[in-house]
Amino acid sequence: MKVNLKKTGGVISMEVFQTISQRRSIRRFKKEDIDESLVEKIIQAGVWAPSAGNLQSWELILVKNRRTKEKLSEAAYMRDFIAKASLIMIPCINQRVSGTVYGNRGVELYSIQDVSCAIENMLLMAHALGIGACWVGAFDEQQVTDLIGTPSYVRPVALVPMGYPDEKPYPPPRRDVADFLHFEEY
Ligand SMILES: Cc1cc2nc3c(=O)[nH]c(=O)nc-3n(C[C@H](O)[C@H](O)[C@H](O)COP(=O)(O)O)c2cc1C
Repeated sequence: MKVNLKKTGGVISMEVFQTISQRRSIRRFKKEDIDESLVEKIIQAGVWAPSAGNLQSWELILVKNRRTKEKLSEAAYMRDFIAKASLIMIPCINQRVSGTVYGNRGVELYSIQDVSCAIENMLLMAHALGIGACWVGAFDEQQVTDLIGTPSYVRPVALVPMGYPDEKPYPPPRRDVADFLHFEEY
């Protein structure tokens, strides 16, 4: 199924779609540091993500310290591109925020959805600003929480190393829409 963007919204929607479809996970970074003002813009894009009850149940830790970056890359099973990033964002969920209002569903579902929306917004904004990033989910959670000192109700959900891209990966294939789209029932 193809959507005709010209019919649905013209130039702007085409730009949005291009930003979405041309973003890639970047795993090789230049040595250059990212400008603070760009980091602020990326975070602002996260701020405007939707969240259950608008509770914005996320926390965000920024790591620039070289030694901490190395330790984080060890916690991520020695993926050393992580240590080479200009900075590492660690988006977390605050289970108390969503849990207080929505109980178990807030802790187990909404908070993760909230922060995931914020992460995707930030990945897209980073890409639009010429900055590369990768969502890394494979890490030893205990090692990471020990390193960054989060309390038990604040759970890191990803490591997001960011930096100026030093690669242009070929787009990995996507499933055909017809493969997963169901009409009216499964
Ligand atoms: C929840 C989640 C976890 C991921 N974990 C990792 C990871 O641990 N290591 C990694 O290199 N990439 C990880 N990725 C990135 C995916 O490999 C990547 O998004 C996918 O291959 C599609 O490529 P693209 O982002 O360039 O479109 C993760 C992505 C998501 C959404």
